[in-house]
Formats: sequence, structure tokens, C-alpha cells
Amino acid sequence: MKAAVYQTYGPPEVLKIMDIDPPAFGEEHTDRVLIEVHHASVNPFDYLHRSGYLPVRLSNGFLTPKEQVLGIDVAGRVIRIGSGVTRFQVGDLIYGNCLGSHAETVRARENTISVMPKNLTTHQAAAVPTAALTALQALRDGAQITSGQKILINGASGGIGHFAVQISKFYEGEVTAVCSTANLSWVKELGADHVIDYTREDFTKNGMQYDVIFDAVAKKTYFNCKPSLTPTGVYITENPLRPAGQAFQVLFSAVIRDRHLKTHLTQPGYEDLDFLRKLIETEKLKPVIEKIYPLNAIAAAHRHVQNGHTQGKIVIAVQPG
Ligand SMILES: NC(=O)c1ccc[n+]([C@@H]2O[C@H](COP(=O)([O-])OP(=O)(O)OC[C@H]3O[C@@H](n4cnc5c(N)ncnc54)[C@H](OP(=O)(O)O)[C@@H]3O)[C@@H](O)[C@H]2O)c1
Repeated sequence: MKAAVYQTYGPPEVLKIMDIDPPAFGEEHTDRVLIEVHHASVNPFDYLHRSGYLPVRLSNGFLTPKEQVLGIDVAGRVIRIGSGVTRFQVGDLIYGNCLGSHAETVRARENTISVMPKNLTTHQAAAVPTAALTALQALRDGAQITSGQKILINGASGGIGHFAVQISKFYEGEVTAVCSTANLSWVKELGADHVIDYTREDFTKNGMQYDVIFDAVAKKTYFNCKPSLTPTGVYITENPLRPAGQAFQVLFSAVIRDRHLKTHLTQPGYEDLDFLRKLIETEKLKPVIEKIYPLNAIAAAHRHVQNGHTQGKIVIAVQPG
């Protein structure tokens, strides 16, 4: 099968399209499904791995990557099921999470994929899993948002951010979306009540206060944001290590048991994918896709995402359905 493979850490050019063996699928893979990948998306996860970001090397091999096919979001068709699989049949269209989706075939755990929303194509569905799960879990479980709260989303035009705006509106928040000039209008169309252009105004210095500040792109530290929180407000970030100074603030806040700061790690799982499917099928949530690249342009897709100004999501077309 064709796959985008990286055998060394480095710039996007280390990614090569190669013919490799499809994933093994034996009797021991009782709770797994084999998926014909139609579309996948590119996440910061992919370029952080490819470029050899230090925390990644600690788990994926210090000098040489252990897992050499990237991609954590998939949409495609089930082509084999393990003997213990109960939720899928061969032929089902699915979406969800598994490592190695930048390839024609991938093996996934049954409990990290779900039936694809009926009103999406596979290229739209591939844009959803990681970014939308992250937005949902950070807001619902981490920040525990409730109706009527003032919620600020920093990085509202990115993969996580554009889902976060819509999910905050679903939970009846009053949403302030922070992005750059070019993105103000479409982010407002997603439902944001207020928009702030970060190139002209610093939301941490305008005197406004919020019940929840969700820094979806890790651009402002907790101490930057603290004066902009209400007395019971919560700041939640996707990245406890960025920007500079954040790691110390996270550690210090843990020591003094400051409950206004929360960090978040996304958990893959079919229950939340089922929940997202319902939001999508009832038109409460939709993915925005800036560009679809063919698999053989994977390096360009990585460059695009690594540039840090994606509008919504970048998708990879792997093979036709
Ligand atoms: N904790 C977890 O489990 C988890 C899971 C998934 C992702 N993450 C992390 O979450 C972060 C975001 O992921 P993503 O997929 O949403 O990234 P993304 O799609 O690449 O985000 C790009 C967005 O960032 C915005 N941006 C850039 N500079 C900004 C600034 N100074 N202020 C406000 N917005 C700015 C851009 O908006 P403009 O073009 O308007 O500048 C663009 O829309 C990454 O660091 C990723 O590693 C963590």
C-alpha cells in the first residue's frame, strides 16, 4: 500500500510516498478493524512528530522515529473486522482516531472510531475527530461550561478553535472569538457573538472579563490571562509547555492548588464521536476545510499546517471511496 513515511526527523521533505506492507491483521486483533482510508487530516501532532519535537522523541524514539507513518484522524470504509468487534460491519463508513492514517490502509481500535455522520462526505468527516473532540472535552469536561457564561476562544479560526466556537454556542455561551483580520467574518458566521482581531487589540488588556478563556492555540500564558478572568473564571490551555513561561506557571499553579488553571489532554473514544455525529447531523456543528491535498503532496500539507495560520482544517485525499 502507499503511505507517507518519515524515516528520520526533520523538515517536511523527509516525508516520502513509499510502498509498504499493509498493517498486520491476525486472530489476535479481536477488537480491531481494518480501514480503507479515503481521507485523513493533518494536525499539529503530525508536524511535531515529524520535526522531532523533544517531548515527542521521548516516546517515539530519540534518534529514529519508531512509528514512521503519521496521521491520527481518519474517514473511510471498514474492510475487515476482528472476531470480537460488535459495533461495525465490513462496508461501514466510519470516522475517528488511529495512528497511521496517512496511508491507504490503517488498523484501528473499535472503540476509537464511530459511524460517520450521514450528512458529511469522507473529506469533511476526516476533518472532525481530533480537533472537535479536543474542543468538546476541553469546554464540556475541562472548563465545565454552562449556559450564559462569557467564553473567550483564543485561536478561533484554527482546527480546534472553529469547533470550539460552535460547541460553546451549542452550550449557550456568549462567545468572544479571537483571530486575525482575514478570519473575523467567517468566524462570526459560525456563531461568535463578538470578535477580537488580535493584530489590533490584545484581549488581555482591554478590561473585559470572562468566565472561561480557552487558549486553543497556546499563545497566551495563564498569568497573561488571569486579570481577564472573573473571580470564579477558568483558563484552559491545550499545551502546558507553550508559550514560553507556561510550564513554570502550570507547575506553580499545581503546587498552590490554583483551580483557575486547567490543562487538557484529548481522549479518543466512540462515545464522544457519537455525540459529535449528532451535533453534525442536526446542523449544530460543521467542519470548515481550507484545502485538500493529495497524499503525494503531504510535505506541502505539513508546511501549510506548520505555518500556524490554517483556516479550519487541512485534509489529505488518500484514495477515492
Ligand atoms: N492537549 C491536547 O490533547 C491537544 C490535542 C490537539 C491539539 N493540541 C494542540 O492545540 C494547538 C492548536 O491545534 P489546532 O489544530 O487548532 O492548530 P491550528 O489549526 O494549526 O491553529 C491555527 C490557528 O492559530 C491561529 N493563531 C495563530 N497565531 C495566533 C495568535 N497570536 N493569536 C490567536 N490565534 C492565533 C491562526 O489564526 P490566524 O490565521 O487568524 O492568525 C490559525 O487559525 C496545537 O498546539 C496542538 O499541538 C493539543
